[in-house]
Order: sequence, then structure tokens, then C-alpha cells
Amino acid sequence: MIGKKIGVLMGGISAEREISLKSGAAVAESLIRQGYIVCPIDVNPEIALTLRQENVDVAFIALHGRHGEDGIIQGLLEMMQIPYTGSGVLASALGMDKAQSRKLFIASGLATPASLLLIETEKSIFKTEPLPFGYPAVVKPISEGSSVGVTIVEGPDGMAAALNEAFRFGPKILVEQYIAGYEVHVGILDQAALGAIEIRPQTSFYDYTAKYVKGMSEHIFPAKLPPNIYQEMLALGLKAHLALGCSGYSRADFILDRAYKPYLLEVNTLPGMTETSLLPEIARGVGISFDQLVEKILTTASFGK
Ligand SMILES: Nc1ncnc2c1ncn2[C@@H]1O[C@H](COP(=O)(O)OP(=O)(O)O)[C@@H](O)[C@H]1O
Ligand SMILES: [Mg+2]
Repeated sequence: MIGKKIGVLMGGISAEREISLKSGAAVAESLIRQGYIVCPIDVNPEIALTLRQENVDVAFIALHGRHGEDGIIQGLLEMMQIPYTGSGVLASALGMDKAQSRKLFIASGLATPASLLLIETEKSIFKTEPLPFGYPAVVKPISEGSSVGVTIVEGPDGMAAALNEAFRFGPKILVEQYIAGYEVHVGILDQAALGAIEIRPQTSFYDYTAKYVKGMSEHIFPAKLPPNIYQEMLALGLKAHLALGCSGYSRADFILDRAYKPYLLEVNTLPGMTETSLLPEIARGVGISFDQLVEKILTTASFGK
């Protein structure tokens, strides 16, 4: 890859734009440090023109959320025959849609929290019908990240506000059984599980503040789990990655209940890549530096996936 021009795609229009700019800056700095020719690109509707004008040979996608993590930019890069990092069109689209990915997880035997998929016209259903799995419940948009629009609802009184909040981000939402226990994320690199990290948020769950404000969550690597459960988490993380047909790298988010039964929440096909993000932290914990991680991801770039 040395001598090739690497376009680092970042920013874009999603709710996670600011995080993506940080991931992109960290990736670009790392590639420059390693002697690559780097072209940082803030993605906008002129992206196809920019890629051609800049003569980009390979795209490192440091976008998160809509138009970046959902198959859209991947489709454009396929059309342009530019190799790109991470998952292909379908895996990306599936990973971004919590309702569709759940169907594949269940088909692969991966446990997910009990849930209901609702469209906006059904939003008053809980005024007349009880929640089948009871409270607390988690209300979330199906295609956002960074915990945007996610609320934990303690009882029926909190439902209306939580539904309104989640529906701000799209026409379909999930209402899920709340699982109390341990939050564990599994990092995947080049079709192998790297490690599992435990997160203990200072807030009531791993919300936007706990994710991005320093000191608002404690990270424990390796996750403090019984050894057999730790190994099981690695296997489940890889299984989740493969269930969606992901490539390159990803991060699978799980909650384990108090008896260590794991429930899969989602697979992030373009997880955070700032130097303090979870996948880089997992990598560091198993002896892979940030620069080595970035280079490894770059070498997995391809198209036609
Ligand atoms: N069913 C659940 N039980 C307990 N906590 C949950 C549940 N669903 C989500 N959470 C909490 O909300 C956070 C964000 O949810 P997640 O489904 O991963 O969406 P996002 O794509 O926004 O990260 C999780 O990291 C976890 O802390
Ligand atoms: Mg998540």
C-alpha cells in the first residue's frame, strides 16, 4: 500500500459526525506517521468527484452512522472500483438496521433481548396493552449509533416521551427487554476475535456522555468474566460478525445478565477509531498498537465484497 494514495473518509452528515471527524483525524495521523500518502476527505454530496480529482487509490472509511456505516458509501466505492476498508454493502446495511440484523442473529442462534418493532402509527399501543416482557424496557431507534435516541423506561408513565424521542430518528423503533448485568464489547479484526472489554458507565447506561466524556465510564480489559465465559464471548462476537457477513473489522456489543447469560445488542461495522476508542483499546491490550491496527485494517481493503 506504500506509494498509494489513501483517502480517509470522515465527517459526513450523520448524528455521529463529530466522532467521525475524530476517528478520521486519528487514522489519518497514524497513516502519515507510517509513511503513507494520505488525503483526508470530509464527505459531502460531491464525494465521487473529489475521489476522482484526488486520484484516491484506496478508501479508509472512518465514517460512523448514516451514509457511512450503512452501505451507501460502500455502494459508491464499489461503483468506482476503489478498494475500501471494513464491511461490504449488504453487511453494512444490515449492521446499521437493528431490526434486520436481529433476524440474522436469531437465525444464527445468538440470543438477543426480547423486543418489539414498532412503526409510528402503533405508538399508543402501550396505553392499552401491557409490555410482554415488562419494565424496565429500552426504547431505541433502529438505525442510530452512539446511544442517540436511546432511553431506559422504568414504567408505563415514561413510555410516551421515550417513544417520541426515538421516533425523531426514523419511522421504526425497537422496544426491548432491559437486561441488568455486565456490558461487554468484543473486538473483531480480520475475521478473528481480538478480545472482550467490560464497560462500567458512571451513568445509568452507556449513553452518549458515558461514551465520549472522559472519566464517565470505566473500561476493564480483559473483561472480568469467568474464563469459560470470556472464551464464549469471543466466539459469540465472531459469530455475530460472520452472521452479518462482515469483513475487515467490527465490534459486537453485548449485555450479560447476572448469571452471565449473554445477549447481543448490535454489531458496529465501523466502530470508533480514536486512540481512546474501545477497539483500539482492545487491540492495545493484546499487544497491537494503534498504528498496527490501522495498518492491518488498511491491508484488508478490497472491493467486490
Ligand atoms: N436491552 C438492553 N438492556 C440493557 N441495556 C441496554 C439495552 N439496549 C441498550 N442498552 C444500553 O444502551 C446502549 C446503546 O444501545 P445500543 O443498542 O448498543 O445502540 P447504539 O447503536 O446507540 O450504541 C448500550 O451500550 C447499553 O448500555
Ligand atoms: Mg452500541
